[in-house]
Amino acid sequence: MDPYNATLERKEILNQGLVVFRIAPDEPPYRFEPGQYTVLGLLGREGRILESEPEDPAAEPDKLIKRAYSLASGSTEKHLEFYVVLVTSGALTPRLLALEEGARLWVSPKAVGMFTLDSVPEDQGVVLVATGTGLAPYVSMVRTRIEKECGGKRRWAVLQGARRSWDLGYRNELETIRKRCSNFFYLPSITRPSPEDPWGGLVGRVNHILVDGTFEERFGETLDPSRHHVFLCGNPAMVEEAVRQLGERGFSEWHHRKNPQGTIHVERYW
Ligand SMILES: Cc1cc2nc3c(=O)[nH]c(=O)nc-3n(C[C@H](O)[C@H](O)[C@H](O)COP(=O)(O)OP(=O)(O)OC[C@H]3O[C@@H](n4cnc5c(N)ncnc54)[C@H](O)[C@@H]3O)c2cc1C
Ligand SMILES: NC(=O)c1ccc[n+]([C@@H]2O[C@H](COP(=O)([O-])OP(=O)(O)OC[C@H]3O[C@@H](n4cnc5c(N)ncnc54)[C@H](OP(=O)(O)O)[C@@H]3O)[C@@H](O)[C@H]2O)c1
Repeated sequence: MDPYNATLERKEILNQGLVVFRIAPDEPPYRFEPGQYTVLGLLGREGRILESEPEDPAAEPDKLIKRAYSLASGSTEKHLEFYVVLVTSGALTPRLLALEEGARLWVSPKAVGMFTLDSVPEDQGVVLVATGTGLAPYVSMVRTRIEKECGGKRRWAVLQGARRSWDLGYRNELETIRKRCSNFFYLPSITRPSPEDPWGGLVGRVNHILVDGTFEERFGETLDPSRHHVFLCGNPAMVEEAVRQLGERGFSEWHHRKNPQGTIHVERYW
């Protein structure tokens, strides 16, 4: 039986290995909270992109390979959007990136996860820190909330880290919001500058920038666990390090039962 229940409507290649997918589920509307993730799946028989490494052993052709992906679309948008990077040795991403527009795939009927703004009081600042495709849940949060919050009292900040400037997906969209909304701050940074990269902006890892004074000076506020909720998403080593560094500033990790007062929220991608 064909397990597929969605169609790839648009594939936007940002650079080799970095893609934004727009997917239409067969049975809309698809309900989710900004920040949540769902699961995408493809059968083992689907082809792998040429740039990937050969698989050993070969995947079972009739078995669905499933992985979690954060939703990047706003919660009222018609299509589901995903921001995906190729892991050349991986099982699913080499198949996902080989898909052409119009291809079919499987999307879990349910979005899940607690990496949302639900536990953040309306008067608390929101600081969203990402490496790589860990930006995806923040794109969803911003798209869902910004119309209501643009120019409002609550401060928003997005701190985005990537290896090179061409890996800074959604930069134009976030720059535009920064210009339009006085309460929205956006700070991108790269870690591997090179002569071929025309980047003239900030260089450094996001967790350092967050606590070494660079972010706070430009944001115009000192990070304070009683005033700010900090979200950390992407590379698990960055998340670990930032949790430790923020811990030294009095922050603790939020947990819905064990620590509902916590103001660090984390999503580790692997
Ligand atoms: C809650 C959640 C949300 C996620 N959302 C996204 C998302 O929005 N976009 C996205 O690209 N990935 C996301 N991931 C990662 C995703 O689930 C897969 O692990 C990833 O796409 C690799 O799948 P694969 O089958 O190709 O590789 P696998 O065969 O599963 O190999 C996994 C290995 O690849 C590396 N890896 C996995 N993900 C990444 C990554 N994003 N960047 C760098 N290295 C990685 C790690 O070393 C990991 O051990 C998310 C993971 C979780 C748990
Ligand atoms: N990005 C792409 O366009 C691309 C294209 C094709 C394939 N790939 C492959 O996809 C995978 C993911 O690449 P990615 O660049 O998206 O993710 P990544 O390796 O997690 O790097 C993203 C950002 O996280 C930073 N980082 C890494 N470890 C950190 C730590 N311990 N603390 C703080 N920051 C840390 C990186 O800085 P550093 O530079 O200092 O490590 C970089 O700025 C890799 O296997 C890559 O080879 C990527």
